Amino acid sequence: MLFTDAHINKVALQQRAFNLRWATVPEGVIPLTAADPDFMCAPEIVEAIERYSKERTFAYGPPEGLLSFRETISKVVFERKNIKTHAGLVLPVDSAAQGMMVIANTYLQKGDEALVFDPVDFLFKTTVEQAGAKAVLIPVDVATGHFSVAQMEAAITPATKMICLCNPLNPIGKVFSKEELTAIGQLAVKHQVWIMNDEIWSDIIFPEAQFTSIASLSTEIADRTITVYGFSKSFAIAGLRAGFIIAPNQNSYNQLFQASLLATTITGITPLSQVAAQAAFEHCWYWLEAFLLHLTRIRKIGLEMLNQIPGVSCHTPQGCYLVFPNITGLQKTSTEVTEYLFQKAKVAVVPGAAKWFGPGAEGHVRICLATSETIFTEAMQRIQNAVKEF
Ligand SMILES: Cc1ncc(COP(=O)(O)O)c(C=O)c1O
Repeated sequence: MLFTDAHINKVALQQRAFNLRWATVPEGVIPLTAADPDFMCAPEIVEAIERYSKERTFAYGPPEGLLSFRETISKVVFERKNIKTHAGLVLPVDSAAQGMMVIANTYLQKGDEALVFDPVDFLFKTTVEQAGAKAVLIPVDVATGHFSVAQMEAAITPATKMICLCNPLNPIGKVFSKEELTAIGQLAVKHQVWIMNDEIWSDIIFPEAQFTSIASLSTEIADRTITVYGFSKSFAIAGLRAGFIIAPNQNSYNQLFQASLLATTITGITPLSQVAAQAAFEHCWYWLEAFLLHLTRIRKIGLEMLNQIPGVSCHTPQGCYLVFPNITGLQKTSTEVTEYLFQKAKVAVVPGAAKWFGPGAEGHVRICLATSETIFTEAMQRIQNAVKEF
């Protein structure tokens, strides 16, 4: 058993886990907020960091990233996601968030528009807007994951330069089907727009679902797709800030590299993080598989316990270690429910507020599953008891 209480270093989390988590909540509060695992990472990652550190040489790395890391990435994305690329088109960056910003800065300007699903992680709107463009929201039904391709096409104007895809979709856990991806890809080809393809969640797929990369569908679609990935979700190393972009061709790579500012040293991923992430891709899939088994059990507990609460109903996510229950039956806003749970149940969750996920998220709260069964069950019981006194 790899994912028990013994694999959580609570003391270290209380000192080090920021971003709405253990280090930021009062003693006694269980944070099921930011999607960052409570578990210690796989030992192979630490061993790689130790080996590198023992050389006592922390010189600047190459701006385009370590060749061995880029080679590992191109091999892994082909084997696991059927993305055909090579090391020369892979650009390591210091997180998926940074990768999204680089993509937005490369292909969006003031006055441009980008299609963004609603609800979705706030980073899409944020990166699109910081590039000066406007996010045009495309609603997705939270419970069924349904969206309309016709509505997407109708939203495309001469100003549209990008479709932003989050597959699987945080916060609702939708895994896009091959048919849906083909339709989105064909729109991009037809209207000559880019696809910002965020696959940070692509390893967190529950057993009944199947992940397809939009970059694997056809050469035409791949040629419009810039894929971004980060190691935070799959390998519990968010603090190492490691991710990469895959450009569809050399021209696009050159533009992305230019916009990334990597050549200036103003930004960049440290060699240490690249070594750690390479170890994750080379040696830690066994760890991820065990993590997925654990998450499948926690998802079941979460769904059962949430669906027992009158006024709460929760659909089954196909991917992401998140549940996103509908709380409209409680007759309060998601922010009110979140505040109540924080005070009364001493459990922190993320409200389905527009600032986090877009207006389509209201009426829901987001709960992270990536903790131990003991901690999660305790949190669910506290929520059940608190809601009884609502
Ligand atoms: C959809 C999505 N993209 C990007 C990120 C950012 O990940 P990173 O830690 O690599 O910046 C997250 C993290 O929550 C996410 O959910």
